[in-house]
Amino acid sequence: MSSVRRFYDELAPDYHRIFQDWDASMAAQARALDALVGAALGAGPHRLLDGACGIGTQAIGLARRGHRVAGTDLSPRAAARAGREAAARGVSLPTAAADLRALPFGPATFDAAVCADNSLPHLLTPDDAHLALTGLRRVLRDDGLLLLTVRDYDEVRRTRPTAPPPQLSKDADGRETITLQLWDWHDDGERYDLRHLQLTGEDGDWRVRERRTTFWALTREQLTGFVRGAGFTEVVWHTPQSTGFYQPVLTARRGTGQLADSAATVRAHR
Ligand SMILES: C[S@@+](CC[C@H](N)C(=O)[O-])C[C@H]1O[C@@H](n2cnc3c(N)ncnc32)[C@H](O)[C@@H]1O
Repeated sequence: MSSVRRFYDELAPDYHRIFQDWDASMAAQARALDALVGAALGAGPHRLLDGACGIGTQAIGLARRGHRVAGTDLSPRAAARAGREAAARGVSLPTAAADLRALPFGPATFDAAVCADNSLPHLLTPDDAHLALTGLRRVLRDDGLLLLTVRDYDEVRRTRPTAPPPQLSKDADGRETITLQLWDWHDDGERYDLRHLQLTGEDGDWRVRERRTTFWALTREQLTGFVRGAGFTEVVWHTPQSTGFYQPVLTARRGTGQLADSAATVRAHR
């Protein structure tokens, strides 16, 4: 089993604790993404794929806004929880375990594809990024919309932090969770191993969980190159100030032309 899948399978029951108020975050994130979808594709509802849906943070919110959403994720436990959480909120969200690099859908199945909250940077090589992006392009209709949201790694690559600020959240029942991250940078200065510590407290009694995974801190220029190389056009970066989404968002359109030489594209960004 891949270490990424294990990381998110183990985290799935606790993932919502990363947020101060998960339902409020779902609503706010969906509002911001929906505005971008509407601006590009017009009034919906649209057929949307969330290809890294996790426990459903964006997919559920977008389904609640009326879109027909399907969710897939590398983690079977996260994808299954997304389906259950959607049902508990009265919306339909078909989910499945699937790797972005091998999406189980036919060509032109979706009007828009979402891959949010730093999911693509789990792919650690140009070949894997290319596979995922060409796969997303394949399942989009002509002129369909791609939406990627990622950490602001341009800033991160300047400072190479080793311990971003902790996050604190509280359950409805008052249970507190502190999430700490420790980042160990690789010699290439681009990738880092993340140790994810979650401290959950009840009556002064703290339980600590540590989970590990790896990210590639792609700059906007690097990601733009991969997106263009996979055959997308009209690549635009949107700032949090302009969208209300808490991370930079990239939008791009599925070009209708033939793909350029893929191998050359991958080589150019190695
Ligand atoms: C930071 S989480 C974000 C999940 C969700 N979008 C959210 O905001 O709650 C990153 C997600 O990417 C998924 N992921 C990582 N690599 C993937 C891959 N190759 N294919 C599909 N999903 C992947 C993980 O399983 C995880 O659920």
